[in-house]
Amino acid sequence: HKAELTLDPAFTVAPVHRRLFGSFVEHMGRCVYTGIYEPDHPSADADGLRTDVAALIRELGVTTVRYPGGNFVSGYRWEDGVGPKEDRPVRRELAWHSTETNQFGLDEFMRWARGLDIEPMMAVNLGTRGIQEALDLHEYANHPGGTALSDLRAANGAPDPHAIRMWCLGNEMDGPWQLGHKTAREYGRLAAETARALRTAEPGLELVACGSSGRSMPTFGAWEAEVLGECYDEVDFVSLHAYYEEYDGDLSSFLAAPADMDRFIEEVVATADHVGARRKSSKRIMLSFDEWNVWYLSRFQREQAEDPPTDWPVAPRVIEDRYNVADAVVVGGMLNSLLRHADRVTAASQAQLVNVIAPIMTEPGGRAWRQSIFHPFARTAAAARGRVLRVEPAAPRHDTALYGEVPLLDAAATYDEESGRAALFLVNRSTDTPMEVSADLRGLGGVAAASALTLSDDDVYAANTADDPDRVALKENKDVRLDGGRLTAVLPPVSWTCVELA
Ligand code: AHR
Repeated sequence: HKAELTLDPAFTVAPVHRRLFGSFVEHMGRCVYTGIYEPDHPSADADGLRTDVAALIRELGVTTVRYPGGNFVSGYRWEDGVGPKEDRPVRRELAWHSTETNQFGLDEFMRWARGLDIEPMMAVNLGTRGIQEALDLHEYANHPGGTALSDLRAANGAPDPHAIRMWCLGNEMDGPWQLGHKTAREYGRLAAETARALRTAEPGLELVACGSSGRSMPTFGAWEAEVLGECYDEVDFVSLHAYYEEYDGDLSSFLAAPADMDRFIEEVVATADHVGARRKSSKRIMLSFDEWNVWYLSRFQREQAEDPPTDWPVAPRVIEDRYNVADAVVVGGMLNSLLRHADRVTAASQAQLVNVIAPIMTEPGGRAWRQSIFHPFARTAAAARGRVLRVEPAAPRHDTALYGEVPLLDAAATYDEESGRAALFLVNRSTDTPMEVSADLRGLGGVAAASALTLSDDDVYAANTADDPDRVALKENKDVRLDGGRLTAVLPPVSWTCVELA
């Protein structure tokens, strides 16, 4: 197969928002406990935070983290997680049928996030709770001092306000599985009133309303229209969540999943803009893609149905998916989809960060290691700089069972005017044929060097394990040539490649 494209800084989409490289820490399974926090681990610091995990998070290039859920937040009492640890209550946790010890909470999260230079994105419970509790959490977290809850924060060891700017108004409120699930009208009203109250407390907050839990939700589209109909003027973002998996060995459809993500984003933009048009509003709602990843969800749902949980374990192993080469290629494509839509998607969080459907895995008391999906995320976060370029590849197309006709090449590119560096992110979706890509770089004004890293393998189902943590890794792609203003690169089947140009 052959494909052609042109990189020209005259045609751009938007700046590369650093918030696109966000992640997500939920009190779920082993994401927090024995993930980022494990006081007995040999690498733990004085706060009980695993420094080996922290080093991998730095390498991953994570910029923001959404916390504390997820489904967890819809039954959470934030005040259980602050104050002296010995006084914190142990609670039944209904979202994941486990026991929450509350040994990690808001103040620990903020110390962890600040230590890693990560921007927090705080979710409030709009499932079992409402406006008052959201205001209380905000007073504790952000109020400077001189009030009961801000003084309590100071007494708990955090005199300076946490200064959390981004707030999610609940989680997946359209999902019947959500504690306190609501109709669009009910949720839209609650989101509007919670937003108004929070903004009265602090006008500069950035607020995210819950969109749909997925494109296939029966209420998708109508949900966004009705929710935004209630809270358009009060919020800045609407959220999107999407998880993909390979069904029944249909690798071609799976590799096309980022094309479905493109459509999902474009449909949410159209719906939000429709609400704006009806209101004659010049304001544009941005998109926060605050849960996205590969997740073998149907396996989890089958297991839950066959063997429903009866016990209440602490930090059990839940959805610890092992990712293979194909999964990593899809994750690379999903990052391309986010970049391509950077004019409207200005925040995103891969779900999740450690152990739970995560790029980073740990063993309790043992090592921390990188899954295959770590690599496209880390490279894209490091190489994508400046502005996203509008790339219109001419590539062969093929038909897929789940997502229709899609191009065999998935491409995104960025260009940083200041340094003169460009990056090209390429996915060959063919399951059996290499792709020769030819790129016209004359518009970049004299590129002298090109280097490329590729993720591919003869066994697309190869995966890393604790004992073989580097089985799947990036390798130098030697089939890259620069000839005047033209780049040629050969991409193996089922592969993700990052070409860096300087
Ligand atoms: O990330 C796992 C779960 O997926 C989250 O808790 C929930 O928001 C979503 O359904």
